[in-house]
Amino acid sequence: MDFDKIIQELSQNEKKVLLTLKKLNGSASPQELVKQGDFTQVAEVMNAASWLQSKKLVAIEDHITTVYSLGKEGKHFVQNGLPEKRALKYLSEHNGKSSLKDLSQILEQSEISVAVGWLRTKGWVNIKKDKETLLEITDQGKKVLEIESEEEKALNYLDGHPNTTFEKTKLSSLLSRKNVLKEKEQVTSTIVLTEYGKKALEKRIEITEEISQITSALIKTGDWERTAIRPYDIHAFAPALYGGKTHPLVALIGKIRDIFIEMGFQEIEGDYVESCFWDMDVLFIPQDHPAREMQDTFYCKNPKRFPIKEKTLLESIAAVHENGGTTKSTGWGYQFSRTEGEKTLLRTHTTVSTIRYLYDHPQPPCKVFSIGRVFRKENIDTTHLPEFYQIEGIIHEENANFRQLLGILKEFYRRMGFEKIRFRPGYFPYTEPSMEVDVFWNNKWMELGGSGMFRPEVTEPVGVKSPVLAWGLGLERLAMQAFGLKDIRSLYISDLEWLQKTPLR
Ligand code: PHE
Repeated sequence: MDFDKIIQELSQNEKKVLLTLKKLNGSASPQELVKQGDFTQVAEVMNAASWLQSKKLVAIEDHITTVYSLGKEGKHFVQNGLPEKRALKYLSEHNGKSSLKDLSQILEQSEISVAVGWLRTKGWVNIKKDKETLLEITDQGKKVLEIESEEEKALNYLDGHPNTTFEKTKLSSLLSRKNVLKEKEQVTSTIVLTEYGKKALEKRIEITEEISQITSALIKTGDWERTAIRPYDIHAFAPALYGGKTHPLVALIGKIRDIFIEMGFQEIEGDYVESCFWDMDVLFIPQDHPAREMQDTFYCKNPKRFPIKEKTLLESIAAVHENGGTTKSTGWGYQFSRTEGEKTLLRTHTTVSTIRYLYDHPQPPCKVFSIGRVFRKENIDTTHLPEFYQIEGIIHEENANFRQLLGILKEFYRRMGFEKIRFRPGYFPYTEPSMEVDVFWNNKWMELGGSGMFRPEVTEPVGVKSPVLAWGLGLERLAMQAFGLKDIRSLYISDLEWLQKTPLR
């Protein structure tokens, strides 16, 4: 131990506690230290002592002691005397004799049997049974009348000194009576110098004026140069402080937003409640597609219908589904229902936002993205939630091509810190070609999203003539990887410890 350094880093109060302990032969209660050490509060002493304890210079020893004070019956005894003593007095005033019955003149009915019990066990009376029970005072009984018994002494003392320690053997008879005494456990501390503490005290410990915090006044007046500044012990124990901060998932969304903005994209937003028409019909998803079934999609009860205002678009979409319309496609070849699309639902993907954007802004070029929640009837497990975020985006440009799409996605994941990704052929009714994006994590490939180029069946009816690159990627699975979580649900359980310990990035 480097005692010089330790002493240098002691605060004023720590030094005061050490020096006072030395004066008091190495151990003292906090109260004594307050008195002898010129402190104003026990808290000051305890605070300094616990720092000294963490530096191994003192030990704080806790003892549990039992303290006593008077109970209800005990107070009554102090005022009126013990019932057996009162009975004894009555006897002595009546020639040393009395019938049991006559005691009721000075004692409550409930006290009589108590008094007689004690008188007999203490040998202060003899009891004779004739026609009635007779009590006769003994010599010993006469003697005790003159003196204060141990019990009385204890009662009187506790009356003046509540909550004090007492030799328990002296209280045993009082303790055997109901409600006479109250017992309480009290923790008292003793602060004791350790061997290190004693060694440190062999050095010179001086209480000099010093500052532990620089203030603007100290700087302005230049006093900081003239005053000693207490060195910091950066290894000293201190409780961890957790300030308020952004939820990790929200922070991650912010990071994704920044990446797309840096790559030249603009953010768009959409509503949670959508029509089937925009969420599916416009995206060339056939009306008998399994994803539309009740077990996959949340349909809304209220509002149940969402009138389709875009009449021309509705006609083009009907034609595209039935026979391809003017797109050279053959369509799906079924009878399109113009009312099916009015059904309301919670959007199943954010592709609905980008297709709406294209309809409103058919002129290229555009690069937009959105980060928003979507809803699907998934069973909850370690990798599935019925409500999750999608990172959606499109590039609409005259010469946009498939290789550009691969490059953009690869670059996005690279900026997120995922170097190893792979593309697989995929299928979506609204894109051609289509592909799936996987990221390598935990020694396996994890599916993160879909992408592709919008088909003419999608672009032509909304008035778009140039190619559109599109993608929709999962956020939560990405977050699991970023935060090293095994269960997707952890993101939405407010586990304080996890929230506190996850660093801001
Ligand atoms: N909408 C698709 C999904 O929810 C993702 C996707 C978006 C695919 C855009 C292709 C193009 O999985």
